[in-house]
Amino acid sequence: MKGIILAGGSGTRMYPISKVYSKQLTLIYDKPLIYYPLSVLMLAGIKEILIISNEETIPLYKKLFETGSALGLNIEYAVQSAPNGIAESFIIGESFIGKDNVSLILGDNIFYGKLSFYYETVKDFKSGAIIFAYQVTDPQRYGIVEFDRNGKAISIQEKPQVPQSNYAIPGLYIYDNEVVNISKNLKPSSRNELEITDVNKNYLNKNKLRVEKIGRGVAWLDTGTPEALLKASNFFGVIEDRQGLKVACIEEIALTKGFINKDQFKALIDQVPNSIYKDYLVKVLDE
Ligand code: DAU
Repeated sequence: MKGIILAGGSGTRMYPISKVYSKQLTLIYDKPLIYYPLSVLMLAGIKEILIISNEETIPLYKKLFETGSALGLNIEYAVQSAPNGIAESFIIGESFIGKDNVSLILGDNIFYGKLSFYYETVKDFKSGAIIFAYQVTDPQRYGIVEFDRNGKAISIQEKPQVPQSNYAIPGLYIYDNEVVNISKNLKPSSRNELEITDVNKNYLNKNKLRVEKIGRGVAWLDTGTPEALLKASNFFGVIEDRQGLKVACIEEIALTKGFINKDQFKALIDQVPNSIYKDYLVKVLDE
């Protein structure tokens, strides 16, 4: 399974910072937003990762993660010249994906809690597509999925004005290799984007889509507005302060997942300037 993080877009709702800076690099409590989706892929055991963003931001990601080898990862980068839609990820990522299956996570999607629903589906995945459904109070803002009485997914819509269900589809998807061809054959929507919802409808129509409901033990946090970012920061600030454990600390995850050994972890710490973050990594090493 390969992983793609889509971290471009215009981020206009974040104006004025969006004029000069990418939303996925803004701070959520003590680390850049993109660390959270990256950590989800890593925790699922995905080590080959493509980061897609706009031309100005790719150099910043390269500076942040380099080749990923210090974390035991292989990180590649690709430019999306304009926000032409989420499904364009699979066209841009075609050679990276090769003949493999792929999981896509949006660079502004944060998940926290018991994520075994995702890790297990990645591990057992064979073919078709798997997406998730999460109950929200504002479904009109998302792609949504409607279920019949037996819990079978019967329709998928992108931001319907009158939603037929409260189940939003989070920005976390798993596809077989067919997704590349499906994306290449999509027509742009009325908002001129290659819609991920059209990819999912394609799998649904072929009876190859599995939709897993995510239970209430999982937080899927919104990062669409400055207020939502503040709430997310507060959320992780409270948890980290209470437990003394960091969430989405990619260095710690690399160690605990066995992507790197203790010596490599030590070498990594040596590169980190004196900071609270370094103190934490040292504590992890000592424990
Ligand atoms: O967050 C989940 C939702 O994401 C899904 O429920 C929807 O089905 C899906 O269409 C998407 O909806 P949004 O309207 O919230 O997507 P947005 O345009 O805000 O883009 C999501 C992220 O992906 C954002 O960080 C920017 C990035 N992006 C988006 C597009 C369209 C890109 O990097 N390139 C793009 O072309």
